[in-house]
Amino acid sequence: MTGRNARRNLRGVWTALLTVLGLFLVACAKNAPQDTLAPVGPVAEQADNLFRPVFWIAAVVFFLVEGMLVYVMWRFRWRSDADAPKQIHGNTRLEIIWTIIPAVLLAAIAVPTVIAIFDVAEKPVGANVVHVKVIGHQWWWEYEYLDVELPGGGNLKTANELVIPTGRWVDLTVTSVDVIHSFWVPKLAGKQDAIPGKDNFIKLRADQPGVYEGQCAEYCALSHANMRLRVIAQPTADFDNWVRGQVAPAPQPADAQIVDRFLNTCFQCHTLRGIGSGGGATTGPDLTHFASRSMFAGSMLETNARNLAAWLDNPSSLKPLADLPAGPTMRDYDLSQSEIDALVAYLMSLE
Ligand code: CUA
Repeated sequence: MTGRNARRNLRGVWTALLTVLGLFLVACAKNAPQDTLAPVGPVAEQADNLFRPVFWIAAVVFFLVEGMLVYVMWRFRWRSDADAPKQIHGNTRLEIIWTIIPAVLLAAIAVPTVIAIFDVAEKPVGANVVHVKVIGHQWWWEYEYLDVELPGGGNLKTANELVIPTGRWVDLTVTSVDVIHSFWVPKLAGKQDAIPGKDNFIKLRADQPGVYEGQCAEYCALSHANMRLRVIAQPTADFDNWVRGQVAPAPQPADAQIVDRFLNTCFQCHTLRGIGSGGGATTGPDLTHFASRSMFAGSMLETNARNLAAWLDNPSSLKPLADLPAGPTMRDYDLSQSEIDALVAYLMSLE
């Protein structure tokens, strides 16, 4: 081997090592809110309980097979024709053994897999179950609480944050109004596709109060990566309080001009129950209790006056947006600074 070849080989080895190290390091995170390996509810736990033994079986098989391969490659590397190993092609006993071993392994893994598939697909029943319809939009999530009727008719609708009671099953009907999205809260459950015209089922239960991050897991055009969500699990008493607060209409604004502004522009897409005509449109999130949510704009921005003012001023500078066939996304309405200030003051009062 020439010196130049040896150097090139060494460079190749270093490149490979650094790549593997890099891949290893990206798996490290101090705070991993979407870690599937730290499940919190029974659905995610069941998947985790299935994953762990399958992982270890696969790891043992990998090291056995790769170990034997590397050993044979080293032991029988070419030195001279006389040194060639004995050929065993067509050895019936060997072929039967290496057919039976994987078949038995797969059969063993199939038992807990099939049990888990049936368990996860079973609808929860009982008076304690919370029913929510999850509707994917480009690019935010809408939640319709099917058990919560509003005084004026229809069900309670919220956006971005799904508030649920702890320790109770939540039966989700997942669908979409435009393209295919995928609802995914890694710590609580697996993924479920949101398909226009189709109702898909997924259930989850959070056994501890907390905020569980999630995101759209199916590429859905421009702002797919900005289509995040949060599940907020709280004790039943807090959840009941939250429902009572959400059912109430929005407070009247002090400034009637703001109402006009809303009626003329925002109500084309948004709803504000109790104000003017109330809107009723669902192209954009229901804003009745906007300020009760910790995040907005597809759960990308923290709800505060500064972010909201920047959003109203130029939404697509904070989250890439486009006019879509299914309906317009939030756009720049050329609001003046005083209009923005008045809107922000009112929206931030909608708790
Ligand atoms: Cu919605 Cu990706």
